[in-house]
Amino acid sequence: MESEPQFFDQPGGYVGKPLVRVEGREKVTGKAKYSAEFPLPGLTYGVLATSPIAKGKIQSIETAAAAREPGVIAVLTHQNLPKLAKTPNDPQGKKDIGAPMGFLPLTGDEIFYAAQPVALVVADTLEHATHAARLVKVTYQKGDPIANFKQPKAELFDPEKVQDGKQKGHTKRGDAQAAFASAPIQLTATYNHPVYNHNPMEPGSTTAHWEAPDRLTIYESTQGVTRTQSAVAAMTGLPREQVRVITKYLGGGFGCKGATWPHTVLTVQAAKAVGRPVKLMLTREQMFTSMGHREDQEQIMKMGATADGKITSLVHTKKSTTSPWDNYAEPNSKIVDLLYASPTFESSYELARANVMTSTFMRAPGEAPGSFAIECSMDDLAYRVGVDPIEIRLRNYADHDYGTGQQWSSKSLKQCYARGAELFGWSKRNPKAGATRDGRYLVGMGMASASYPVHNSSGTARARLYADGHAVVQAGATDLGTGTYTVMTQVAADSLGLPIEKVRFELGDTQLPTAPNSGGSVAAGTVSSSIFLACQDVWQKLIKAAVIDKKSPLYRAKPEDVAVEKGRLFLKKDPKKGEAFGDLMKRGEMTDVEGMAQGKYGSGYEDASAAKNADPTQKDQAGQHSMHSFGAHFCEVRVDMDLGTIRVSKWVSVIGAGRILNAQTARSQIIGGAIFGIGSALMEETIRDEHFSRYTNADLAGYHVPVNADIPDMTVEFVEEHDPYINAMGVKGIGEIAMVGVAAAVANAVYHATGKRLRDLPLTPDKVLMAGLNS
Ligand code: MOS
Repeated sequence: MESEPQFFDQPGGYVGKPLVRVEGREKVTGKAKYSAEFPLPGLTYGVLATSPIAKGKIQSIETAAAAREPGVIAVLTHQNLPKLAKTPNDPQGKKDIGAPMGFLPLTGDEIFYAAQPVALVVADTLEHATHAARLVKVTYQKGDPIANFKQPKAELFDPEKVQDGKQKGHTKRGDAQAAFASAPIQLTATYNHPVYNHNPMEPGSTTAHWEAPDRLTIYESTQGVTRTQSAVAAMTGLPREQVRVITKYLGGGFGCKGATWPHTVLTVQAAKAVGRPVKLMLTREQMFTSMGHREDQEQIMKMGATADGKITSLVHTKKSTTSPWDNYAEPNSKIVDLLYASPTFESSYELARANVMTSTFMRAPGEAPGSFAIECSMDDLAYRVGVDPIEIRLRNYADHDYGTGQQWSSKSLKQCYARGAELFGWSKRNPKAGATRDGRYLVGMGMASASYPVHNSSGTARARLYADGHAVVQAGATDLGTGTYTVMTQVAADSLGLPIEKVRFELGDTQLPTAPNSGGSVAAGTVSSSIFLACQDVWQKLIKAAVIDKKSPLYRAKPEDVAVEKGRLFLKKDPKKGEAFGDLMKRGEMTDVEGMAQGKYGSGYEDASAAKNADPTQKDQAGQHSMHSFGAHFCEVRVDMDLGTIRVSKWVSVIGAGRILNAQTARSQIIGGAIFGIGSALMEETIRDEHFSRYTNADLAGYHVPVNADIPDMTVEFVEEHDPYINAMGVKGIGEIAMVGVAAAVANAVYHATGKRLRDLPLTPDKVLMAGLNS
């Protein structure tokens, strides 16, 4: 029998400490290589020419002028691009390649969206390719595009009637309509979100290198090398292992790099066509139409409650815009269902096709917009009943997950409310809206709850411990820039009992053990658990070697009686009896020992035994617990009623997310997420022209994101939380929760300041000035 793996909480350990980034020096000295920075011999440059129209047909393409320009190697169009084994344009291909790529351009003459690629020019320099791409002459037969779901010509449909029903957006618990009709308090409100774009600092890029006719290496800006590998393998027809994907550093993703997009495949085809490596980097403008966006959407939130503010009914509906070929909709309703103890619930959603690039997941997909609807409505309820916004949430506190009926694996939301209120100074808040002034500013305080699920995920890691006391630990994970390199090095060092400088963690390569996408907030929990368990595997192997080694003090001990701490193997009952791993290995002439293990969602030690007896056909085998992070945001705003400007002047976020791996990178991540949310609340918006279905502000001058001057000092705290169910490390992940509830906290603060309830994001000055009182 193997000895039980243990949580480690060694005094003096690295996990949890605010260590600086292990890759920080590489980054600030410019040595860190991002995906577009791999110089290959014979490298060429690809530039896309794109369609100005959003709907129609290509009548003719004239490429000769472009091809004649200096340095041009090829001008590729749908007429001469090498064929793929599979494209997403047919249903089976779409299934094999994986969402969201439901359409690949340069496969025919039809135009479905504005800025759809129509040609790819390859040249010896970026400048030559850029110049020549402008000379590609295309004539179009123009159609009449649809720009969004609100237009009269747009047709709303229920995607679950036409598809596989996987999105589970339609839910019914009890009779929510009847409960609403008979509720003493009835609130109905409509919430609008514009299109948002992720706008990571580093644009999407691909460098494709065919090293042999059947062997391909891609340097890709992606949140998941494995996913890119499987999609490209499906399209090229190569076996997976002959497609290698490398992503050493990423300059942000926020969801837009979570899947494989057309520019990647087109670059692969172009490299095949010219017989040389091709690098293609999207321009900032192309980032608005090449890697998805958050869909424009409308939510209607109906809330029924008793006179003292206990929710009796929630009815949530949503409409949004999708592309001509895709049925993706953010799953908004889940968070509406799970945050509060409503005995009844109903949700549904509809989509309309428009001439747009498809939408995709964006940081906290579903939870971010869903929380805006439920958390503003909760604020409305608080004012209607005449109680404090925290009190109304406590009256409706969900002591279990009403959506699934499960118990929570852990939930620290009450602590988040209490600690947040204390840090923020909530008790000083005047309960009356529109009643606090500071000079020319109206001052408001608002708050909102946050929650994000621990998504189902698994992945593997390898740990190799050398006899001389250093180690290399590997997982094919991605570091979005948030600290994966650092936290995994900490976990490995503690798991192996080594000084941190003796451990190197490698990631971002499909030749390493398969790790999940860095998406859905799963990477920290899954990868850290796989590393912890891989290191346990190393110890198990060494323990087995010790007990059969006649010269070891542990000879003939039972493996389960042996423990390891800080690199020393010893008898649990007689800790003096033992030896350092290095001595054991040198004596046995073992250069190194390698361990490998899988980290899994729902296989924390409590649930692991339950899972053994569970029905394996059940999707969630661990199954007894609903696993979520929770948190609370507190916001103070100053509103200038002459100019309509809103300034966030104070911010507090308190989060309960299980074990926190690094106090400093975690704090940075929460700050980053909250700023992302403040951007969505106050300034971010991609504007799509109603007539042409083109974006009118596709650059960072027109798409405003917060800068330092927009953001006050922010206070972030984590509630100490031990969750024995979620995974081996007890880590829930914090990539997305910080963004959830942020827009509502801001809007609630604006209401408290002004008495104006704004429900159409972003809350720009025009809306502040135009809003009717108490609308
Ligand atoms: Mo994130 S939106 O799951 O990449």
